[in-house]
Amino acid sequence: MRVIQRYFGLKLTIHLEGENVELAIPLTLNQTQIAVSVLEELFDTRVKKIHQKMNKGTSEGADYLGWKNYPNELPLHELEETLDAANKLRENAELVVVIGIGGSYLGAKAIQDALSPYFERKSDDPEVIFAGQNLSGAYMKQLLSYMGRKEVAIIVISKSGTTTEPAIAFRILLEFMENRYGSSASERIVAITDKSEGALRELAIRSGFRTFVIPDDIGGRYSVLTPVGLLPLAVAGVDIKQLLAGAKEAVHDLSSENIGSNIAYQYASLRSLLLSEGYNVEILASFSPNFEMFNEWWKQLFGESEGKGGNGIFPAAVAYPTDLHSLGQYVQDGQRMLFETFVHFTEDAEDYAIPSSKADVDGLNYLSDKTVNEINEVMMHGAMEAHKDGGVPVLRLEVAKQDAYHIGYLIYFFQLSCAMSAYLQGQNPFDQPGVEEYKNNIFRLLEKPGYVEAAL
Ligand code: PA5
Repeated sequence: MRVIQRYFGLKLTIHLEGENVELAIPLTLNQTQIAVSVLEELFDTRVKKIHQKMNKGTSEGADYLGWKNYPNELPLHELEETLDAANKLRENAELVVVIGIGGSYLGAKAIQDALSPYFERKSDDPEVIFAGQNLSGAYMKQLLSYMGRKEVAIIVISKSGTTTEPAIAFRILLEFMENRYGSSASERIVAITDKSEGALRELAIRSGFRTFVIPDDIGGRYSVLTPVGLLPLAVAGVDIKQLLAGAKEAVHDLSSENIGSNIAYQYASLRSLLLSEGYNVEILASFSPNFEMFNEWWKQLFGESEGKGGNGIFPAAVAYPTDLHSLGQYVQDGQRMLFETFVHFTEDAEDYAIPSSKADVDGLNYLSDKTVNEINEVMMHGAMEAHKDGGVPVLRLEVAKQDAYHIGYLIYFFQLSCAMSAYLQGQNPFDQPGVEEYKNNIFRLLEKPGYVEAAL
């Protein structure tokens, strides 16, 4: 544990200012600069080797590296098609149900939540809700009754086109749409799936749905910047051009093979270092309540990419300050195998001043020269310091704004960090044998033709 002590209080900063991205990465320990050279000394050779293999397409699982330059390679006509499909759905529907699970669900939901108002959406934006990510009969029954009171459209997403949960949801919702809209139902349905394989592709061809392709070389959890995320987000009113602009900037900024000038590789090597020192749980922490689903997307990305062969960092997440009053106790004082990464948005768009009160019965007048966000930030510093003192290595990832541009940047940052981190741990970042195993079990237990016999 000795090496790690030197890293407590580590601060990993991304400064994104307007269109000009400036990566200032002061690695600090209690105000003291820690030379990145510590990470370079430990990881430089391996990181460079992995970087070069990824670029040459010779790393393990390289067939799934399509996401790496996709923000630059996405053809303009496909982006226009996506925007056109989104506009048509927006014109025809007040409610759009997006069906999908895992990588075909989490990214869109995460970004939608992170960028949407808390209570009231803009009047011209349709409501976008999700299905197929659970198998609750009550959810389905209530969803259908809700859909019955709205003009509805559906986006169904599945790369394999065979995943049980969304397939069941789509069968039920398709029946609803056909009963409700008759032969014009297909005009209200868009399918996003493999270019040629899977039951969903077959169904889309037979029924004449508009379709978008999930590129062959991009796996589910790396697909949010493809039509998988872009279409639902455009429907929800998110500026997907800005999202892609942020991701493109990240592709540019994070292209160096040198740890010293690549913040994603710093984060990845730091994680490996922490893991090797016995810190095998990472907690992603945020003080923005609408960031909770982003945590879920991040958990899938790292969990499915690294958790293999009895190895990997377990990705957990907290929403502070809410969780300071629940999991905070464990983080502070439980088993010491945790490290924490705070995602800190430094420039909040909206704020509210604490009013002063004549009587001051609640004794809060000492705060009346402050705003809610200012106190939130003080809470963050208080928690970071307490956790650090409690023996939790703390990293802070600073992002200027919680807007489409910066979220696009952050998405790419985490994808690249994750790939490097998994490779550093000797894992293929792009397969998910565990998920496949459970999927096969489901087919066997539900007696899907072909699977019962195969199990005998
Ligand atoms: O990352 C992955 O590949 C998986 O988690 C998938 O996204 C998830 O299983 C859904 O698969 P599909 O899109 O094929 O329905």
